[in-house]
Amino acid sequence: MSSPNTTLHKSLFDTRHRQGLNTVLPLTFWLTGLSGAGKSTLAYQLEEMLLQTNVSVFVLDGDNMRHGLCSDLGFNEADRAENIRRVAEVAKLMNSAGLVVVVALISPLRVHRAVAKAIIGMNRFREIYLNTPVAVCEQRDPKGLYSQARAGLIPDFTGISAPYEAPLDPDLAIETGSSPEQSAALLMALLNDVNATSD
Ligand code: ADX
Repeated sequence: MSSPNTTLHKSLFDTRHRQGLNTVLPLTFWLTGLSGAGKSTLAYQLEEMLLQTNVSVFVLDGDNMRHGLCSDLGFNEADRAENIRRVAEVAKLMNSAGLVVVVALISPLRVHRAVAKAIIGMNRFREIYLNTPVAVCEQRDPKGLYSQARAGLIPDFTGISAPYEAPLDPDLAIETGSSPEQSAALLMALLNDVNATSD
């Protein structure tokens, strides 16, 4: 829904024109998976590899977004939905500006990801599932959050006391044990394929 009494202004230059300034078709890689699944590690690995090949890319990481744009939001279902909507809108803007975007958000429900896909557009959106089981994430527990959640100190913790719905048909599933370098290379290949098949 838009605000009342506002009009949409259209730039004279479309994304395809801006894209001429960069060299690749801008996609959004939407990384979904549990906390500790490796989303941020993969996102920043991919960013590094793309920047090394002079591709303009930006990472929208859940933890970072929640320090700024989404700092007013918590982890109940409505707040997560709003978090994901805002980040999807930013990704869409960045794609329109010609950037490749890597989103790293738990985005636990299928409906959340469907909304993100609708906002970003199916031509641009690629769903990447980090298929790391909760037992592995809990063992890693890089931020100590799983032990706090088990102790009842963090309510609505994804995988423990709040649901995670695995994607049914992701564009790519990354299994536990794949290195960030291997996984990022798969995403680079996906981007190259899209560019090779676009006119
Ligand atoms: S999402 O569900 O709205 O997509 P998001 O990716 O932004 O979540 O934030 C997840 C990060 O917030 C986790 O990596 C973790 O560091 C932190 N966090 C704090 N509380 C929770 C919680 N209840 N459930 C999941 N993650 C949480």
